[in-house]
Amino acid sequence: MSETLERWGSRRAFILAVTGAAVGLGNIWRFPYMTGENGGAVFLLLYVVFVLILGLPIMMAEILVGRAGRRGPMHALAHLARQAGVSPHWRWLGLFGAVTVFFILSFYSVVSGWSIEYLIESVNGNFSGRTPDEIGASFDAFLADPLRMTFNHTLFILLTMSVVAAGISGGLERLNNLLMPLLYILLVVLVGYAVTTDGFGTAMAWLFTPDLEAITLSVVLNAMGHAFFTLAVGACALMAYGAYMPDHQSLPRAVAAVAVLDVAVALLAGIAIFSVVFSQGMDPAEGPGLMFVTLPIAFSDLPGGPLWLGVFFLLLLLATWTSSINLAEPLVAICTDAGLKRGKAAALIGSLVWLVGLLSVFSFSSLSEVKWLAGMNFFELVTTVPLEFFLPIGGLLIAIFAAWIMPASTAMRSLDAGPGGFRLWRGLVRYVSIPLVVIVLLSALW
Ligand code: TRP
Repeated sequence: MSETLERWGSRRAFILAVTGAAVGLGNIWRFPYMTGENGGAVFLLLYVVFVLILGLPIMMAEILVGRAGRRGPMHALAHLARQAGVSPHWRWLGLFGAVTVFFILSFYSVVSGWSIEYLIESVNGNFSGRTPDEIGASFDAFLADPLRMTFNHTLFILLTMSVVAAGISGGLERLNNLLMPLLYILLVVLVGYAVTTDGFGTAMAWLFTPDLEAITLSVVLNAMGHAFFTLAVGACALMAYGAYMPDHQSLPRAVAAVAVLDVAVALLAGIAIFSVVFSQGMDPAEGPGLMFVTLPIAFSDLPGGPLWLGVFFLLLLLATWTSSINLAEPLVAICTDAGLKRGKAAALIGSLVWLVGLLSVFSFSSLSEVKWLAGMNFFELVTTVPLEFFLPIGGLLIAIFAAWIMPASTAMRSLDAGPGGFRLWRGLVRYVSIPLVVIVLLSALW
């Protein structure tokens, strides 16, 4: 990234781009299965609380730094640190973020590949007239077939990297403008269908009546990690987008709009998925396969089912595409800052992510029993540690930098919410968000 950056075309374009980053597998794939594994309503409650008191303020911190720095994350941090009279070693926070998004992208692409496979299968009508057992078995067979998974993983990397190589304003902005409204229309249609199922009442009760006694440390840690993940916060990836933000746009307002849109998608997807789970008498704690097994089973009985299923996987794919572009952007920015051409950088990053992604692909077949840490295979490891530890640690450091280290005048100008708004934000970050992340992380590592 050069010092004279292009800006997003408009305020709306910035909000659409950040929403595109936020809405993805986190909302539609991970939120439902994590909710299922963590007891339903308690997880939902904690997740919403963490989005409000951690995710949002730290998201503002992250974008604020990028906007004030007007450079790629590493250069922005070094520049602002020098300006604040502290060590430019803060730049390594940008590298830590890059390591985090690298590992996230490596499994993200594999799981997005599952939706490519399922989109094609459902369009071909391969799920109609199958029994639940057959559908469950076909998901297992797919996971056990590294060749098919590698094919889809490769396709998804190419999809992502070609947009990244084309450059941010051309490829991404147009894509976001086109796709986001479509996503919401399709989700509302799906929920309209869910209301007509028998499981709707049970799903609503299960999602919205929390049993506070079911809160455990692991539910808290999972909910915190998920709040960071779903908002795309903690890895300096939104920092890279902040660098392109228009000069006059209130950051809290933009970020609040994104959070509402993001949580709305998770809720709509959750309501749709759990309605079909409960109407079919299935197990909510099914794990990462939850939506891939239950939705085809449920939809296969319905009139027009294969079509609805295809629609669902199409919108999932569109959403994950814009998210993965955001995951790739800081990696490519580091390479272009080091002098590489954008196209070359995209090819290099794409190949590396593809290689590491293969470890996730094979985690469902030949490498399933290879444990890397605490009894986890590679896929389990990359879907846990970067989300539950790296993102909160990165977010914590970003928050410290924005709220304690940057000169107040610089931060206030970049937040663009007036002196009152700035004091409120800084107070929240200093005395609520930062201590809370520290407490949760320390209790988890204890
Ligand atoms: N928020 C996206 C999702 O929910 C994932 C994502 C995109 C992300 N960009 C990110 C997560 C940056 C962490 C950091 O699917």
